[in-house]
Formats: sequence, C-alpha cells, structure tokens
Amino acid sequence: MSITAEIRVGDKTLPLPVIVGTEQEVGLDIQALRDKTGAVTFDPGYGNTGACESAVTFLDGELGILRYRGYPIEQLAGKVSFLEVSWLLLKGELPNAAELAAFTAAEKAHRALPAHVHAIIAAFPADAHPMAILSAATLSLSSTYLADEKVTEAGLNKSQLLLLAQFPTIAAAIYRKGKGLAAVAPDAKLAYSANFLHMMFEGTGNAAAGDPEIAKALDLLLILHADHEQNCSTSTVRLVGSAQTDYFASIAAGITALWGPLHGGANQAVIEMLDGIVAHGGDVNWAVAQAKDKDSSFRLMGFGHRVYKNFDPRATIIKVQADVVLGKLGKNDPQLGIAKGLEEAALKDEYFVARKLYPNVDFYSGIIYRALGFPYGLFTVLFAIGRLPGWTAHWNEHNAGKAKIGRPRQIYTGKNARDVVELSKR
Ligand code: ACO
Repeated sequence: MSITAEIRVGDKTLPLPVIVGTEQEVGLDIQALRDKTGAVTFDPGYGNTGACESAVTFLDGELGILRYRGYPIEQLAGKVSFLEVSWLLLKGELPNAAELAAFTAAEKAHRALPAHVHAIIAAFPADAHPMAILSAATLSLSSTYLADEKVTEAGLNKSQLLLLAQFPTIAAAIYRKGKGLAAVAPDAKLAYSANFLHMMFEGTGNAAAGDPEIAKALDLLLILHADHEQNCSTSTVRLVGSAQTDYFASIAAGITALWGPLHGGANQAVIEMLDGIVAHGGDVNWAVAQAKDKDSSFRLMGFGHRVYKNFDPRATIIKVQADVVLGKLGKNDPQLGIAKGLEEAALKDEYFVARKLYPNVDFYSGIIYRALGFPYGLFTVLFAIGRLPGWTAHWNEHNAGKAKIGRPRQIYTGKNARDVVELSKR
C-alpha cells in the first residue's frame, strides 16, 4: 500500500513526499513547507522530527529492538569484541580476520598520550568532573594531530583511530591524577578493555586489573553503549559537525552533551539515588512516592526513555551482567538488591505503567562500575568510551552526505518592534 500525505495551511495544500525507511518507518518530507506556505513545524524536543536519514543503527522502542548495522544487540553482546563493533559501526560490516588484526595492531600502536594532554589533565582542579576533563583533553587533540591532513579521508581515519586508542588512556590518566598516582603506560600485549583496566588499576590492589573475565564484561558494557541513533549527544556531534567543525571538537561537544543527568550522566545519578535510598533505610517505596510527586523534582534515575516504551534491551543484558560481575568479584552489594526492589516496585506502580517507564541502560550499569572500583565521577566517562565509535560513525555519515548546516527555526514569542529609549528616560 502506497502512502500519500498532504498538509493544509490556510487555503494552501501541499502534497508531502513520503520517505519509507528499510524498516518501514514513514517520514513526511516537509522541506518545502516554509517556502510554499510560510509555516514551520513545531516540535520541542524533536520527538516527531527525523533530522536525517541514517544507516548506522535501528531501534524500535515499542518492540525493544536495537540493531547496529542490522545485527541485533543480543547477538553482538558477548560474541564479538568492542573493537569489532567499532569497525562495524565505522565501516558498515564486521571485519574479517585480516582487517581485525590490522585494526587491533593500529589501535595498540596509538594508545600513548602526547605530553600536553597529561599537562591539561594535571591543570584541572582536584574536584573537576572527569567529563569536563575528558572534553577538554579531546578538544586539545584537535590542535595536535594532523592539522594539514585531517581534512583528507586518510587523515580523518587516522584521527579517528587515534581518539579510539587514546580515550581509555585519557580516562585512566584522569582517574590516577585524581588519586595522586602516576599514569601507567599502555601495554600492547593487552587487548582494548584489558589494557584499560591495567592503566586504571595497576598497583592499586584492585583485583579487576589483570582479570580476563572482568575485561570481557567491560568490553560487553562498551558494546552495549556503542551507538543509539539520534540521541542527544549524537545529534550534538552531527549538529556541530554540520558546521564543518573539526572532528575532535565535534566529539568534545558530544561529551558535554552526554554528561547531563538526563542522558549519560544518569549512570552516576542512579548510584547517587541508590545511596539516597540507603540513607532512607533502603525504602524503595519512599523513592517511588518521591518520583510520582509532581511538586518534587525527584525522578527515578535510570528509568524512562524517549524512544523505548516497552523495555530497553541493553538494560536486560546489563541486569544479568550485574549478577555475573558481582558474583565473580564475590561482592554482595546491597545496592543491587535495592535496585531490583525499586524496579519491581516501579513496574507494579500505575504511574510508571501508564507512562511506559522502564529501566534504561543506566539503571544497572553504575552498580557494575562501582563493584569494579570505578569512582562515581568516572561512570559517564565509561559511557563515552563506549559511545565514541557511534559518534564517529554518525559524524562521518553526516559529513559524507550533502548535509546542510543544522539550523532549526523557531516561533518567536518576544516583544514586537519598539524604539530604544535614552538611558536618562528609562
Ligand atoms: N521518573 C519519574 N517520572 C518520569 C520519569 C522518571 N524517571 N521519566 C519520565 N517521567 C514522567 C514525566 O514526569 C512525565 O510525566 P507527566 O506526563 O505526568 O508530565 C512523563 O513521564 C513523560 O516524561 P518526559 O520527561 O516528557 O519524557 P521524555 O521522553 O522527554 O524524557 C527521559 C525521557 C529524559 C529519559 C526521562 O524519562 C528521564 O528524565 N529519565 C530519568 C533520567 C534518565 O534515566 N536518563 C537516561 C536516559 S537513557 C540515556 O540517555 C542514555
């Protein structure tokens, strides 16, 4: 059945071309709307706006489906490595053995940070949030690498590889500087996540460093975060990139967007909320009541999603991983029990049922990060490490097309024209 659409504005009727995606999503093309009718659409929060066509990730919020380049997240998680997923997102296909070997070797060769990045990390005050430092360190790389060649495809590939290789090194350096410890050099014998744990925890007595099973669990968490189509930070990366802004600067902007507690910062906010519930004697009903109270700004952090209105498939996988990792570490974190109790209480509550609010990716991830010994402020940095290949794939896709600069319209509601009055008469 072919779909037709038209829009009537006053006495003008405009037929709207219909775009149908490969998963049968229907988009109404309103690009001629303002020219032909003088009107614009109004969609605060962009809940009904398709800002681009994209071939990177498909998600269906009603059915709880998430696929990277067509591959279901449930098949990728645990079966392939984070580097394979990174290649998949960047290149469109899973790598063959030769491609993966070359990619892995190149990643290992580029992990060490230039001295100035260490100096930038050291210059931040002790209480600076790690996301602020990560963004600044990333931005600083724009001035270091490949100034002449980064506009070429080969130069861009190299820039993007460098950032992928150096994100964990930056994160570990931020952590160790906060602890007053010297940075640990990357170890090329170790794979991506194992090397990250090594750079983080070597010499601290943390059992996570050097444990291959923990490294595998971390790799899986990175995969679950690797892309999520046009979310707030990815849209930011695309929008900033649409001004033909430098790659590193675009990613730095994405990092700051991710930082917010309504987005990636929710993983830190969840743990802080669980601490608050512990302080209330572990009473999950107290938290549910707070979240329902419209006079309170309290929200159940890690609950709800703009797109998922059934369940978040990433949360389902992470919940299982929380049991696995805590079991492996021999930890019995009361927060895990409280989180499960909170989920159960909320999912039975009419307020959450009616609004289709379910645990999202951030609900259980913080419990795992905490068990692994990551400080709260670093949780969202871990999210950023996972999301980097997704941001990069979208930046590339946007810049490869004939994309225009991103520039929404508005409905102006301010004063009408008026004359400036001299200071003495105001
Ligand atoms: N706790 C309590 N009530 C909530 C929650 C929540 N976590 N989330 C939504 N609601 C309520 C709203 O108050 C609103 O109620 P109303 O209709 O009575 O006014 C209704 O549900 C719809 O909420 P919106 O804010 O309009 O939904 P939106 O799609 O704009 O927001 C968001 C999605 C930001 C994720 C929201 O659910 C939220 O704030 N969740 C908590 C923060 C969080 O976990 N963020 C991480 C999201 S995943 C990610 O970005 C990685």
